[in-house]
Amino acid sequence: MKTEGRALLDDYCRKNRAGIIGLAWPGPTKDTYPTEKPMYVVSNMDGDADNFLVHNQTILSLLKHNIPYTGWTDFVAFNWLSGTLDVLLTAGQHPLVLYEPSQINGIPKIVISRQALPDWVFKLIIMDSLQFVSNYKITFPKTRYIQIDIDDIFVGSARLTKEDVVALIQSQNNIAKNAPGFRYNLGFSGSTFAKGTPQENEGDELLIEFKNKFNWFPHMWRHIQPHKFSNESELIYRMQKNYNFAVEKGLPVNGGYSVAPHHSGVFPVHEQLYSAWVKVWGIKATSTEEYPSLYPARRRRGFIYRNISVLPRQTCGLFTKNLYYDEYPGGPVKMEQSVAGGEIFETILTNPISVFMTHMPNYCCDRLAPYLFESLINFVKCFTNLQLISTVPVKLANKYFDLFPDERKPLWSNPCKDKRHIEIYSQNKSCDQLPNTLVVGPQKTGSTALHAFLKLHPNIVSNEPSPETFEELQFFNNDKYYLNGLDWYKQFFPTNTSMTNVVFEKSATYFDADIAPQRAHRLLPTGKIVILLIPPEDRAYSWYQHMRAHDLPTAINNSFDQVVRASAASPKDLLSLRSRCLEPGKYGLHINKWLMYFRPKQIYIMDGSQLKKDPVTAMNNLQKFLEVPFIDYKTKLMFDSRKGFYCSVMKGRKKCLGKGKGREYPPLAEDTKSYLKDYYSQHNAKLLQLLAMHKFPIPSWLKALGDGVSPSSLG
Ligand code: A3P
Repeated sequence: MKTEGRALLDDYCRKNRAGIIGLAWPGPTKDTYPTEKPMYVVSNMDGDADNFLVHNQTILSLLKHNIPYTGWTDFVAFNWLSGTLDVLLTAGQHPLVLYEPSQINGIPKIVISRQALPDWVFKLIIMDSLQFVSNYKITFPKTRYIQIDIDDIFVGSARLTKEDVVALIQSQNNIAKNAPGFRYNLGFSGSTFAKGTPQENEGDELLIEFKNKFNWFPHMWRHIQPHKFSNESELIYRMQKNYNFAVEKGLPVNGGYSVAPHHSGVFPVHEQLYSAWVKVWGIKATSTEEYPSLYPARRRRGFIYRNISVLPRQTCGLFTKNLYYDEYPGGPVKMEQSVAGGEIFETILTNPISVFMTHMPNYCCDRLAPYLFESLINFVKCFTNLQLISTVPVKLANKYFDLFPDERKPLWSNPCKDKRHIEIYSQNKSCDQLPNTLVVGPQKTGSTALHAFLKLHPNIVSNEPSPETFEELQFFNNDKYYLNGLDWYKQFFPTNTSMTNVVFEKSATYFDADIAPQRAHRLLPTGKIVILLIPPEDRAYSWYQHMRAHDLPTAINNSFDQVVRASAASPKDLLSLRSRCLEPGKYGLHINKWLMYFRPKQIYIMDGSQLKKDPVTAMNNLQKFLEVPFIDYKTKLMFDSRKGFYCSVMKGRKKCLGKGKGREYPPLAEDTKSYLKDYYSQHNAKLLQLLAMHKFPIPSWLKALGDGVSPSSLG
């Protein structure tokens, strides 16, 4: 870095007590590096070490010191490392990790020879270094929970013999030595019990004999995918059969856990499955690889729906057909690599809780699963200080959502946008039953008029009203509705929309709800967003009047001026009303949140003042964005002098909005207006800048303001 940059960085580090971690790649050698001064003095190398020598272990916490070493790159010059260095990790005479203690210039520095280290060691060193230089302000827990499910017990052609069952118990004991509390979870389908070869039937019987050694969870009676049953009672009937089987065999099934064949019905959610699970088994937890989607694996998450905790499941690389070591897809070396710092090891490293799914055939034949997991656990024990533990699934689920509370609420996506999701989505459900356009408000900007005018277009349809919130479904902003699930939202939309270009929903509550853009984008990633803007002070005043009309005592007992000038010392209700009046008007702030998820060309900024005064032009312009066949709104709208607003023309008759829209009230007092203009001036300046940056049309009222704003105040 240049000297000034370096000074700034050092200053930052000192002020924030931050350290520096540097990565070194092989560069010029000592001989060729153009040095003017000695770059560093290695303080404590003794020179005759073996390949696993560590001189100073203080940095290591997750990683043990005896790492296998594969190659080296010598450190050369770093002119920002100046004084005496500690060598934290070496291989032979080759320093791998250097440390310049903070006594030297107040900033601790660690330099890691990136290339010399295998990826998994590098990752652990980075984690350890972060803990170390942050003075343990950043910490990584050492505990790793592990759960291994075995699906398809009593199902399929490659089944367990007596010897396999004995080996399974042995494997469980081996794992439990390193992962206290460990038990395999056996998922059974009773319908094919003892229907294999004589040897396999003996295996089935032995599993039952040793039933109390394992945890058991129910699968489907016949291993049929639940999403294929639209009828809940049919699903219940089949689950009940499996339940009766468990009772008859005395299986200890009390874990409140279940898994659906092929993830079917868990995500995308099949309401009938959740309901039947609760009714027959009292299920409280399940797991899937499919949320939010199979790939990338590191983004898998959990959620809670209808009180059932859905845990993310990790891939272990074994599938139903993996019976023999030599036939492992990609060759056995691939499996060995996965264990020795590769994919499955990394899964353990990066997830505090790992739920793996295996299948019964992985425990017969070459018994690949016991081999894989025991090797993995040995590797973890040998080279890391991670502590493995295990517990029953429901407790694990509680633990998971304690660790990741933000994941509790699901994020709904369109099942038809994911190839794997379509396969496990009911054929009776359509994906067209969703809007492709959202009018998001904000409230009091003319959104009801826009809703009514859009519906006049022959190629535009909207949702059916909800009994609670009328034309606004308020799905994306209100948990009360969002957590009802996707089927709930879809029911309001028409099924056959082939003749229409636009299916829209208008909820003016979406605009300023923090969560709405993310939720809307997850479900409607290609959707169009329409935002209406009027002068924010008019919007605030209209909201106040709206509250008065609804007899809100705070609005009745306080003038608008008193509301907007309320200070921190004012009563709570007054502050809350003030916030409802003023916050949505910080337009730029909210639009930015939509822009975090939607591209500018998906968003239409509509001039609400124009919609009020000249709706024909406003609606004619909007049609282009919506890509609908053009109709001239001159034929659809007419001014009504009694109402003082434009009204729809339907079958030759004027239909105006109700008396709650376009209320009569005194004009906004000049004094309050100027207070609010001042209040919003910075926000409006930022809005103007934002709209200009994204080449959005500038609403007339904002343009007028912009004319008076000097470029410097735009920042
Ligand atoms: P006021 O009632 O304060 O005048 P929303 O539908 O988003 O709640 O917005 C209501 C506002 O829409 C009304 O606020 C009114 O000013 C405005 N509006 C715009 N065009 C209208 C129309 N054609 N009929 C009635 N109100 C309209």
